[in-house]
Amino acid sequence: MQKGGVGKTTTICNVAGAASARALSTLVVDFDPQGNTTSTLAAEAVARNQLTIADAVHPEEDERVPLADVMVPTIWEHVRLAPAVTNSLTKVERLINAADHDREYRLIEALEPELANVDLVLVDNAPSLGQLMRNALNASDYAFAVVQADQWSCDGLGELRETVKRVQRRNRGLTLSGALISMWRNTADEKFWLREIIENFDEAEVWEHDKIPQWTAIKTTLNAGIRLDQSRESRLRVLGHTYRRLLARWVPDPEVTI
Ligand SMILES: Nc1ncnc2c1ncn2[C@@H]1O[C@H](COP(=O)(O)OP(=O)(O)OP(=O)(O)O)[C@@H](O)[C@H]1O
Ligand SMILES: [Mg+2]
Repeated sequence: MQKGGVGKTTTICNVAGAASARALSTLVVDFDPQGNTTSTLAAEAVARNQLTIADAVHPEEDERVPLADVMVPTIWEHVRLAPAVTNSLTKVERLINAADHDREYRLIEALEPELANVDLVLVDNAPSLGQLMRNALNASDYAFAVVQADQWSCDGLGELRETVKRVQRRNRGLTLSGALISMWRNTADEKFWLREIIENFDEAEVWEHDKIPQWTAIKTTLNAGIRLDQSRESRLRVLGHTYRRLLARWVPDPEVTI
């Protein structure tokens, strides 16, 4: 979702937590110049001079490094991270835009050597439908939108769908798998916009039964580095199961029926 602050990074981090609980070998790519996934998940702070995902997708071959060289451990077992630090991706996005070939395939090329070593790659995106997003879509089997039940998300879903359709002409393996409703407060306004979203967004399912509530505890638990399924609060463990159900849409889970 190109709208900012809807819960994309929080979703990616919690799905990564669900993947860790399943012992899936997981790679999280922080593909947002803000680097919020990195500050949340990296086991140790990433220094500004450290290699990052920006170096792995650099358009000039002699500047580029293998993805394996940028990956760092995370706070969760089985999950590694291709980190981002503020602004380095912004600079590289400009260079990719100016490159004369393969602009949209920098991420898939970087990922390819690692794919045999992982069960799952999760890419967190910036609130923008620009070149980085197109790179992410070209590298993916599934895209899903994280939305809030409001007018901006409703409008944004239409644009996102068009972007996905354009990429699907080249990446035929890409499926728009659905939209996750985030920060749900159960207000009359949200109920109205949820109905609008369901009416307008017919190509993919809206996961209205797996809504993520707006709870401060989601933020504090993640910031404390605690996986939801390991929380002491039962409502958070139940929420952990919602993320596990989400993950099961892409990686079948014998313990979960969707
Ligand atoms: N379900 C939730 N309940 C309460 N707070 C939440 C929830 N989801 C996210 N937040 C908080 O809202 C803020 C924005 O969330 P997040 O960073 O995940 O959004 P984002 O879509 O990734 O933002 P951006 O577009 O800037 O990348 C953060 O402070 C996060 O902790
Ligand atoms: Mg984010």
